[in-house]
Amino acid sequence: MTDTTYVGAVDQGTTGTRFIVFDHGGQVVANAYEKHEQYYPEPGWVEHDPMEIWENTKAVITQALGQAGIAPDQLEAIGVTNQRETTVLWDVDSGRPIHDAIVWQDRRTTERIEALEAEDKVEEIREKTGLEADAYFSATKAEWLLEEGDPIKMERSRPDDVRDRAERGDVLFGTIDSWLIYNLTGEHVTEVTNASRTMLYNIHELAWDDDLLEEFSIPRAMLPEVRPSSDEETYGTTDPEGFLEAEVPVAGALGDQQAALFGQTCFDAGDAKNTYGTGSFFLMNTGNEAVASDHGLLTTIGFQRSGEPVQYALEGSIFVTGAAIEWLEDVDLIDDPAETADLARSVDSTDGVYVVPAFTGLGAPHWDQRARGTIVGMTRGTRKEHLVRATLESIAYQTRDVAEAMEADAGIDMRSLKVDGGAVKNNYLCQLQSDIIGSDIVRPVVDETTALGSAYAAGLAVGYWNDLAELRDNWQVDREFEPEMDSERADARYERWTDAVECSLGWATD
Ligand code: G3P
Repeated sequence: MTDTTYVGAVDQGTTGTRFIVFDHGGQVVANAYEKHEQYYPEPGWVEHDPMEIWENTKAVITQALGQAGIAPDQLEAIGVTNQRETTVLWDVDSGRPIHDAIVWQDRRTTERIEALEAEDKVEEIREKTGLEADAYFSATKAEWLLEEGDPIKMERSRPDDVRDRAERGDVLFGTIDSWLIYNLTGEHVTEVTNASRTMLYNIHELAWDDDLLEEFSIPRAMLPEVRPSSDEETYGTTDPEGFLEAEVPVAGALGDQQAALFGQTCFDAGDAKNTYGTGSFFLMNTGNEAVASDHGLLTTIGFQRSGEPVQYALEGSIFVTGAAIEWLEDVDLIDDPAETADLARSVDSTDGVYVVPAFTGLGAPHWDQRARGTIVGMTRGTRKEHLVRATLESIAYQTRDVAEAMEADAGIDMRSLKVDGGAVKNNYLCQLQSDIIGSDIVRPVVDETTALGSAYAAGLAVGYWNDLAELRDNWQVDREFEPEMDSERADARYERWTDAVECSLGWATD
């Protein structure tokens, strides 16, 4: 073993997989990334191939270590962070998924959720899981897979075999953290923040909930063991005979939004961050208290360290923000996301145009599964610059929607907000965000806070870092943005935004 050691983090997101190696100062020393295919088999359905995700995970680990000339045994631990809710069922014998993963954005179980609403189950679900009943979460996805899972992918089973095998624990359930940890270590585990997104886990009792398992017909034998986010026992180790050729402990995992909370060192009640990725996820640490929301936010688990009580969080989940910029590219309004700032700046305003990118329904605080993307206010004079600007503004307005809910629930006046994620490299967006919510926006030097958070969780577990104070010392401001727009103007525009949102609600009929 050489003197210099590191901690690695697998960041498995909606569009791709990254492996980052961090040093003791929390600085990035190696970084590799691979995109994976998005499948849209039917309108509103979104799938990923879990085998492709696993192959990419191995590839990015190997690439990152190779580029930086780091030997696998210089890694003291590996952390995992992942797109949450996305659901995989796999067969133990073949090690292969029984179907493509159903992605968090997928809407195929909308009607099942509406049936729950009709049966008055929503309140029970909210009380136990902290979640708003929605197709977003894993429960109805797993139920669908057990009913409809394609046994062809299982290679050895007959069509009617899936449920029987699940009842015997031969077909396993997992979110992406479980799938990756299983492949890395052979252990079938998950951790509390990911469990809290399944709609099967009681966040107060910290246990899988029998009533919910029964409601969704999920056999207990297929569920992973739930462990702390930073686990001194470790989840397992990589196989020295495997692709890494080294025995490295996998000791930390967090859903990606909670990982960003941890990476932004939001360790205390009242600390908040917003991450701008495919969607945006605004989380505020509420300490050891699970605060119930009256304003359409989720109550969720923030993180847990070995031997300590869980820390809870309030979350505003916005489904489409960065993905709206991707859509601009898909429809050829832009060639590259980097153009958006210049295009938006080239006009004084959107000329009254509002884009509501409710492509997969609306999450917090509206929770409308049937909302759909809507553009209002166009005239014959509307140009692509206006549409691009309105799309960027929609990111800032949606954040204001959840910021207002957060302030109302937590009873605080938010003065500043830590931000991270790919889109915050865009100074125009950061300034716009500050203007629209009327708070300071603080961008850290290390913007890979998601990977950093899971590296911190893993590194704390194995003693690479000693305590939270050490991690706080690593956090540094890159730039702060203060509101420049007068608040009356910001409020007036926000008012019109809320009218535009009304137009998008309840649109889809099937
Ligand atoms: O809840 C979904 C979220 O975890 C996805 O995050 O960054 O992969 O879009 P991201």
